[in-house]
Amino acid sequence: METRILRVPDDRSFGNFETGSGLERWNVNADNVEATRILREAGEYLRTKDTPVAFPTETVYGLGADATRSASVRGIYTAKNRPSDNPLISHVCDLEMLRDLLVGKDGSGFGSAEKTDDVIPWRYKSLIERFWPGPLTILLPNPSQPKLAPEVTAGLSTFGVRMPSSTLALSLIKLSGVPLAAPSANASTKPSPTTAQHVKHDLDGRIELILDGGACQVGVESTVVDGLSDPPAVLRPGGLSMDELRSCPGWENVIKGYKDHSENGQAPRAPGMKYKHYSPKATVVLYEASCQAQGESISLDDIESAYTARSQGSNGKSQPIVGVVRTQQWRQAAGLKTGELRLARAGESKQNGDKKQANTSYSVLEGALTNSDGETIGVVLDIDLGKDTRGIAQGLFSALRELDLLGADIIFVEGIEDKSDIAEAVMNRLRKAASDIRA
Ligand code: TXA
Ligand code: MG
Repeated sequence: METRILRVPDDRSFGNFETGSGLERWNVNADNVEATRILREAGEYLRTKDTPVAFPTETVYGLGADATRSASVRGIYTAKNRPSDNPLISHVCDLEMLRDLLVGKDGSGFGSAEKTDDVIPWRYKSLIERFWPGPLTILLPNPSQPKLAPEVTAGLSTFGVRMPSSTLALSLIKLSGVPLAAPSANASTKPSPTTAQHVKHDLDGRIELILDGGACQVGVESTVVDGLSDPPAVLRPGGLSMDELRSCPGWENVIKGYKDHSENGQAPRAPGMKYKHYSPKATVVLYEASCQAQGESISLDDIESAYTARSQGSNGKSQPIVGVVRTQQWRQAAGLKTGELRLARAGESKQNGDKKQANTSYSVLEGALTNSDGETIGVVLDIDLGKDTRGIAQGLFSALRELDLLGADIIFVEGIEDKSDIAEAVMNRLRKAASDIRA
């Protein structure tokens, strides 16, 4: 099938919550004729076809399907090659749509749609008020006669749901008239997509429609929390920080319900033990912030062995291509010996309607990798994501993808302290992408 990218002009706001309704009802702004037309068509497509549609959210691009129809949800697993035992997040545009999911097909469930205050567990109230719409996914009890297709929940008694803050996403959901199940729109095991081009690269020929709303602001997926258990737990760190969560009543003692490689006492792991998640093709070597040597210990042997591993059976390049992704401390090219570094790709600033929007804000520098005799022994590609945690999160997946496209054999990444803001999500993703962690 042919994959089309549809640019959705956002020169006007796509819609808004009905005045005075809080988050109760999202209304689409019909004045934005062109955008409304495209979103209406995509909504119709989602309701009637079984092939998913990719769309932007503030976190990453999602691969959406009508969450109430099995055939359509199965289309997601097929397009992504995703194992079907991993439940999907459902996306709603307003609380009206959420409440409907808490009542079963037979009208029974966890309250009644009219007595609205009963249906949403108390612990979520403060979170919803403060952080929705936004990068937060909550778990809720699924009624015994659920409206969600069983493929969404993978047999669990709960469902994960979020209200994205992207007004494009909210309007698409509204015009679809159904909640959209949507995992990240990458091929399984690859880094999540933060632009329409990333989606096209992974899913070309597997889906028909990609809605292009520009680069995602957050850059990592939503924080998934379980407020049904006591104490409540974070199941996946993401775009909403632990500190923000803890500041809410009922969440002061939230626990970490997931494990990182840094905690299981195994780091540094042996090279080659590749976790198939968020991974580019290149070998990723991560330096934890705690690693004393930091970038200074990158050796030509590391590079040589990654290159040899990669090149087996391929007849391509004669010298290794080395990627460096740095953040807060590393010098240019992580201190590797190089010839002059030149701009290979400038950070883009994307034209978005008549608004100039900051897109991928980093640049790629390229230069010759040299040995101590000054001989060229490879190529270095250097990306500086900057010191700011939010900026690092936003550019992270994109940088890994960019280096993959440029043919990197090995990528050295400078980790950050995972204590503040959304650094925990950044390091969680990097530890999964890395096949070698230096601690
Ligand atoms: O930012 C995001 O959350 C993106 C965008 C597209 O919204 N979506 C996303 O979805 O990352 P997905 O399907 O890739 O991630 C779903 C996560 C997984 O970690 C899954 O295990 C967890 O949410 N999850 C979903 N439903 C669950 C449930 N009922 N119980 C426990 N975990 C659940
Ligand atoms: Mg994903």
